[in-house]
Amino acid sequence: MNKEIYILGVGHNTSVYIDLAEACGYEIKGLYHYNGDRTGDIEHGYRVLGSFDDLFSLPSLVGMNLALSQGDNAIRSQLFDKILQKGGRVPSLIHPTAQVSRFAQLGNGVVIHINTVVHPDVIIGDNSVLSYNVSISHSTTIGNHCYIAFGAMIGAYVTIADFAFIGIGANIISGKVDTIGYNAYVGAGALVTHSVEKNTVVAGAPARIIRVKS
Ligand SMILES: CC(C)(COP(=O)(O)OP(=O)(O)OC[C@H]1O[C@@H](n2cnc3c(N)ncnc32)[C@H](O)[C@@H]1OP(=O)(O)O)[C@@H](O)C(=O)NCCC(=O)NCCS
Repeated sequence: MNKEIYILGVGHNTSVYIDLAEACGYEIKGLYHYNGDRTGDIEHGYRVLGSFDDLFSLPSLVGMNLALSQGDNAIRSQLFDKILQKGGRVPSLIHPTAQVSRFAQLGNGVVIHINTVVHPDVIIGDNSVLSYNVSISHSTTIGNHCYIAFGAMIGAYVTIADFAFIGIGANIISGKVDTIGYNAYVGAGALVTHSVEKNTVVAGAPARIIRVKS
């Protein structure tokens, strides 16, 4: 199996993905930045090989593993789709300290950071990220291109739709919450006691609507 990988994104999250890729046994061949400003720089010991345009100008990405360090779900999903269109691969990266049930089902390009726990019968869609110290209780479904920030706790039997973002340390309570809607945003530290509609930003304990995204 090819264990060489390139990381997209040179910024505050890059070192986190370097740590993760190394912990998963990958050899990092270099980094790509969103523009050409950093080309040739060395970041945390790895060379910036070029811009995203340089990468996507290659005739094909067949045989290349690429990791996406972007926290923004929309940006990460655009890059994910482009990589697949050009024949590249976004492998799932699961930190060795994460505890993922053998009864969980993971899509492609799922990222699971340090000490996160995923219980049985959880389903996680493509290109979703579970940061560190996240807990996902059994029988919960997480869609595609979601981001679950560190310390969040998601109860059982919850459905989190595509592009949802769950902030740091949020709690989503089993039995009270059925759905976190498409592109919904749950604020840091929220205690979520009701389902959240699509495109809706909630925060607080108990969580209340802050605004609806246009
Ligand atoms: C909820 C959130 C999206 C709101 O951001 P925003 O739309 O810029 O809103 P504002 O900061 O203008 O705050 C609006 C109001 O909500 C309150 N508020 C903001 N975030 C809050 C939160 N997490 N919990 C409780 N209240 C919050 C503010 O105090 C403010 O209240 P006020 O009008 O009485 O002063 C943001 O604060 C948040 O929690 N983001 C999560 C960040 C995160 O977890 N990142 C993960 C990085 S890995």
